[in-house]
Amino acid sequence: MTNLYDDIGGAAALEAAISSLYGRIINDAEINGFFTGVDVVSQRGKMEKFLRLAFSGKAQNAEVYMREAHKRLAAKGLNDGHFDRVAGHLQAVLEELGVAPAHQAQIMAAVGSLRDAVLNRATVVDLATA
Ligand code: HEM
Repeated sequence: MTNLYDDIGGAAALEAAISSLYGRIINDAEINGFFTGVDVVSQRGKMEKFLRLAFSGKAQNAEVYMREAHKRLAAKGLNDGHFDRVAGHLQAVLEELGVAPAHQAQIMAAVGSLRDAVLNRATVVDLATA
């Protein structure tokens, strides 16, 4: 089986997606405050990591990493509405790039699986054992 990253166009698709996603996030007044003080070069690198995670379809393996990366933002009030906006921008980018609907669904499911980690909430497993 080929992997999702290659299927959607590999490095070229990634490059195009980074520019588009970055522009959308930075121009979105609802969320761009969280990016204040994060420099452009470093942010593009982070955006690339973001998309590699999403495109791999294996984002669930990144839970601990995502929890750490966004801890500071959770303390600043990061919430479901902010998460939905970022996810919405990603969905728009995938549509714009002409990614096949089945792959879009796979990518959005992978990203959605990171919601609790990004928002620094207890996972379902933690609640079940609490
Ligand atoms: C599933 C959704 C998300 C994914 C996959 C994701 C991915 C990432 C990655 C890979 C990094 C870089 C971590 C590192 O330093 O190595 C990062 C950092 C960051 N993310 Fe996200 N992110 C998500 C959601 C969000 C949301 C909803 C926001 C805010 C609206 C956000 C804002 C940021 C900011 C500001 C940083 C930089 C933090 C810092 O430098 O202190 N992210 N994210």
